[in-house]
Amino acid sequence: MRRLFPLPVPPPPAPDPANPEVAAAALADREWTLEELADAYAYPAAGDPVRAGRPGWLRANMVSSMDGAAHHEGRSQPLSSEADMRIFGVLRALADAVVVGAETVRQEGYRPARAREAFAARRAAAGQQPAPAIAVVTAGLGLDFSLPLFTEPLVPTLVVTGAGAPADRVAAARAAGVEVLFAGEGLGADPARVVAVLAERGHTRLLTEGGPRLLGQFAAAGVLDEMCLTLAPVVAVGGAPRVMNGPAVPVPERFALASVLEEAGFLFTRYRRS
Ligand SMILES: NC(=O)c1ccc[n+]([C@@H]2O[C@H](COP(=O)([O-])OP(=O)(O)OC[C@H]3O[C@@H](n4cnc5c(N)ncnc54)[C@H](OP(=O)(O)O)[C@@H]3O)[C@@H](O)[C@H]2O)c1
Repeated sequence: MRRLFPLPVPPPPAPDPANPEVAAAALADREWTLEELADAYAYPAAGDPVRAGRPGWLRANMVSSMDGAAHHEGRSQPLSSEADMRIFGVLRALADAVVVGAETVRQEGYRPARAREAFAARRAAAGQQPAPAIAVVTAGLGLDFSLPLFTEPLVPTLVVTGAGAPADRVAAARAAGVEVLFAGEGLGADPARVVAVLAERGHTRLLTEGGPRLLGQFAAAGVLDEMCLTLAPVVAVGGAPRVMNGPAVPVPERFALASVLEEAGFLFTRYRRS
């Protein structure tokens, strides 16, 4: 993996064909340790001015094909790579909670996040539980509460919905020992309230893994702080949505490029609200 942006200051020496060792150092295409990746993707500290006035920090991690598909035949795995999964794992390891739409949970067969030895000390030092909680956003609660995601998590899985959610399904979730959080007055959750309600629970370092419909709502509500977007060098064609799906925003919002890493043709971009 190598960093394409921002480049070190001063820049590395230009590749010199007469001196291949210097050329290799300049390109610096090498395996990054988990520590290096975790440092590169660290959340802004609570006192960082970029977090001022916001209850938490909502980062998204998504992968897109070259032609904009967010999945292939219902799964994102065909668009991913080893390095993408490595970054996926690091982003989870840095988060207090993973916020995900119910359809992604159903399509991708979500399981609880696991505790990883490599991140145990970092999480403990940051005052975090051993693994992030999974917070499933759902309006209908049409979820199988007997699945390991709900019955076997290291950290209890949360369900986030609106006050108008079907009472029998809320009861079913609670009967299975699942905590239901209400983040809105209607049938569904209000995206901004989702962030606030999780922050009230101490989950301020948030990672959303989509899917496109949920992410589109976070972005439209102006609560998406950071977008980690993997551009995969694959073409999928077909009718899959883009990584954000929903009604257009009145004015396209501009983000600032924070970093770009590359491995095997995959671009790991990171944008921040500007
Ligand atoms: N490329 C990537 O990085 C990536 C990442 C994630 C997922 N995906 C792919 O995306 C597909 C699924 O994405 P999707 O866009 O169809 O669905 P999604 O966003 O994962 O989930 C949509 C569901 O989330 C719930 N939901 C969304 N907004 C809500 C709100 N405001 N309040 C309450 N509930 C809300 C609803 O659940 P209920 O129906 O239960 O009410 C809704 O049906 C899968 O094929 C997956 O593989 C790709």
